[in-house]
Amino acid sequence: MKIAAVYSIKGGVGKTASAINLAHCAANSGLRVLLWDLDPQAAATFYVRTKPKLKGGVEKLISGKQDMSRVIRSTDYQNLDVLPAEFSYRNLDHILEEEKRTRLRKVLKPVRDDYDLVILDCPPSISSLSEQVFASADTLLVPIIPTVLSLRTLEQLNAYLAEIDLDVPVWPFFTLVDRRKTLHKDVMESLKQDYPLQLSGFIPYSSVVERMGIERKPIGTFSRNSSPAVSYRSLWQEIGQRLSLLKEPTVASAPAAAKAAEAESTVTAPQGAATGKASAKGEATSKPAAKPASKEASSKPAAKPAGKAASSKKAPSTDKKPASKDSASKDASKDSSKSASKSAAKGKKKGGNLGD
Ligand SMILES: Nc1ncnc2c1ncn2[C@@H]1O[C@H](COP(=O)(O)OP(=O)(O)OP(=O)(O)O)[C@@H](O)[C@H]1O
Ligand SMILES: [Mg+2]
Repeated sequence: MKIAAVYSIKGGVGKTASAINLAHCAANSGLRVLLWDLDPQAAATFYVRTKPKLKGGVEKLISGKQDMSRVIRSTDYQNLDVLPAEFSYRNLDHILEEEKRTRLRKVLKPVRDDYDLVILDCPPSISSLSEQVFASADTLLVPIIPTVLSLRTLEQLNAYLAEIDLDVPVWPFFTLVDRRKTLHKDVMESLKQDYPLQLSGFIPYSSVVERMGIERKPIGTFSRNSSPAVSYRSLWQEIGQRLSLLKEPTVASAPAAAKAAEAESTVTAPQGAATGKASAKGEATSKPAAKPASKEASSKPAAKPAGKAASSKKAPSTDKKPASKDSASKDASKDSSKSASKSAAKGKKKGGNLGD
């Protein structure tokens, strides 16, 4: 089970939009995905049409006394479950102050055989919660609007990680991109030089993303061929491959994401923005390694699922999900991912591999 946190110090940069759409893309790849909404605003919970209600409250969840099967909900999407937020999450910082740094990861231990990927939608802050996120995640996916101030927050994040001696890989990517703006172009270019771990895929500014609030659905379900839908699929391919959850694409051609983004925001995509082969519908594909759990799947997990599929049946969003039993086996993939990326993770270091 890999943990990817969508995190930024800055508010309103597209964390939740990215968490939802990447989670949906990953689930469509046939991976079993849990989206954990860590923000008391509960926006991610809202987007997947789930009640912002956590049985027993957040304190019980963090203490490990809560049965995960009582709090995890299925969504309307195959392979995608959600651990909803509620307003009591505002106390999370306080609760975590007394805990060891890896508490968040421990909370997920009972379900680690049930999911291939956990995506954390984080609130915008630097706090006890974010420190837990940094210590627990296999990667930080950091959305950045191409502005100088946004870049500054990335610098601050890297400085902070160095200060607290945590080496989680930081993978920035651009959102709300409008390359008609010279500033956006310049900022994107400058980051590419300084951060080799930057993801090459980016998300254009588009009213389609804003429509998510009305539709309460991932973009891929209501505007499948739109520029942001294609861009999120492409971005997911890149992330899935870096996390060794997807295999390399067989053909690196037909940059559908770049074309779509170009059409919408006159963007010239960065090199490699579309790393996957594009299907007739513009979906990036990876070479499969296993039979997909989803019939919509375009690519498949590299490893055979470790346990019973947590979301093998489509169920109403209010259904309870069964939690798996505790497993004694160590999650070795996290360790290898972390150690391999150690030297490259603390910010502006040149020439690192991609954190796998
Ligand atoms: N690519 C995009 N194009 C246009 N609008 C976008 C894009 N991405 C996000 N938005 C809009 O920007 C607003 C903020 O997005 P989102 O809620 O995802 O940000 P956030 O970083 O999670 O915010 P917060 O810090 O408050 O949690 C939303 O109204 C969303 O619809
Ligand atoms: Mg948010």
